[in-house]
Amino acid sequence: MKTKILVTGAVGQIGSELTMALRKRYGNDQVIAVGHRKKPSEELLNSGPFEFIEVTNYDEVEVIVKKYDIGIIYHLAAILSALAENNPQLAWKVNVEGIAVVLEIARKYNCSVFTPSSIGAFGPSTPKDGTPQDTIQRPTSMYGVTKVSGELLCDYYHLKYGVDTRGVRYPGLISYVTPAGGGTTDYAVDIYYKALEDKKYECFLSKETRLDMMYMPDAIKAAMDLMEAEPSKLKHRNAFNVTAMNFTPEELAKEIKKFIPEFEISYNIDPIRQGIADSWPNSMDDSAATEEWGWSPDYGIEKMTEDMLKNLSKKLNISY
Ligand code: SER
Repeated sequence: MKTKILVTGAVGQIGSELTMALRKRYGNDQVIAVGHRKKPSEELLNSGPFEFIEVTNYDEVEVIVKKYDIGIIYHLAAILSALAENNPQLAWKVNVEGIAVVLEIARKYNCSVFTPSSIGAFGPSTPKDGTPQDTIQRPTSMYGVTKVSGELLCDYYHLKYGVDTRGVRYPGLISYVTPAGGGTTDYAVDIYYKALEDKKYECFLSKETRLDMMYMPDAIKAAMDLMEAEPSKLKHRNAFNVTAMNFTPEELAKEIKKFIPEFEISYNIDPIRQGIADSWPNSMDDSAATEEWGWSPDYGIEKMTEDMLKNLSKKLNISY
């Protein structure tokens, strides 16, 4: 069995942390990180193999898979929702052509594949509260269109060719390590930086916009646990709803105020990101993930806020 792991999008929001977690669990040289253009951190660069490639280029991906005898691919390279809305062609190319290339190479070289989908794979006609695992998916954002396409392609490659494809629908992800960039849920990361730096934050979503969220350690755990799960237990395989908490900007600001009482939030709504957020669920039902592979998050809003502020204050060298 081939055991080497390839991580695409390794310099991105999830990739920068998932690569290090995989190296810790399976060994540094077992995990090959590939990025696009963004400079990797010293830690990422020096802890194991790193290469720059274009994930939409079949030949470039194939070279890496052959060179390192890859058996498992964590395909994370993607454009997030707000950026996708501003550049739909680029989003289609990276998000859909990228996964199409990875799946075809996985079929040829017998690799298993993990790919994240998102709350963005739902749309305005999806039930908003307790959004079921299997439900209406008619997203109105370009990001959503690409994510549903990716989910379906992964299902197709599993059903037609028996490729071991697996994936989750992540909610907004929050981390103090690598900022997201170009997402609708980015406010929930930016707010912590601004709370420490300026004691105030101007939010681009309205105060009552409720969305699912997750702290990065849980997101990493979800990816690794799903890939280690017993395949015979997986009824869904791809696009498992996973969540850890849901809140509004107002509720998050209230949590931050418990640590930084002078913190103030104000609102200046960005119609594009508000429109995207309004089309997404308020809260997903992730019981299929719990039943089929034991999903259970460790962090809620309080524990995450305490940990975010503690670690960001060290990183920014600002006490509170
Ligand atoms: N965090 C992502 C975004 O906002 C959702 O998957 O685009």
